[in-house]
Amino acid sequence: MYKIQPQTLFVGKITEYLPSCHSTNGIATEIIQRGNAIEGTVIVTDNQFAGRGQRGNDWEALPGLNITLSIILKPSFVQPAHQFRLNVAVSLGIHDFLIKQQLSTHFIKWPNDVYVGTKKMGGVLIESTLVGNQMGCSIVGIGLNINQLGFINPNATSLRIAKSSKEYDLPSLIEQLCETIEKRYLQLRNGNENEQKEEYLANLFRIEEWHIFRVNEQEIEGQIIDVDETGKLVLQTRQAIKTFGFKEIAYVI
Ligand code: BTN
Repeated sequence: MYKIQPQTLFVGKITEYLPSCHSTNGIATEIIQRGNAIEGTVIVTDNQFAGRGQRGNDWEALPGLNITLSIILKPSFVQPAHQFRLNVAVSLGIHDFLIKQQLSTHFIKWPNDVYVGTKKMGGVLIESTLVGNQMGCSIVGIGLNINQLGFINPNATSLRIAKSSKEYDLPSLIEQLCETIEKRYLQLRNGNENEQKEEYLANLFRIEEWHIFRVNEQEIEGQIIDVDETGKLVLQTRQAIKTFGFKEIAYVI
């Protein structure tokens, strides 16, 4: 059983711990559909057997070793057209959390993966609903590899591998994660989106470096120069500046 007592105003004050579930984002959806979701509620599990990732991928994590949780937020202060700002705030919250673990070698990979070197340590899946033309609830699903030492995917890593450290205590890490995410969320709520965007860009994987990307089955060379208001990646190619949505471009790593 998890005892999670973060030093926060609302994130993680209500925690629903499930020893096992299909997907914490799925459970959060059910809570929202029941109509009684309280902002900041965290759903956390030790064993997620049908975890969802971005681009319709699965998210796999060995039971009991990693952080798999979802946070219910109500970002009504963000215009739907600007909802990428929530991705930025959450990415920075995770970035702050990793700095607290004295991991200085990580980057945010657009839109909101966590990379150490060329390996993925975690990912975020944000699922939002609109009420009329306003943001309703957002489910911030976070998967962070913490204590897992082996992966089928050669491009995956964990905090324990990256830090060559002993086993981490997951409940205390979850408390810290709730705290760093809430801090960034409140910063966004207070109108600091421009500062956050600058910090996001400063910590972006492969920013302003020439690399190969895959677009429509073809490889192109470019350097990331920005991420626009709608969250699209802005790439300087040898010929022109081009923008790409999430499903339109892939990194060649
Ligand atoms: C990605 O593809 O990089 C995003 C992965 C997000 C996984 C997390 S684990 C907790 C939450 N519940 C899910 O089903 N997915 C997210």
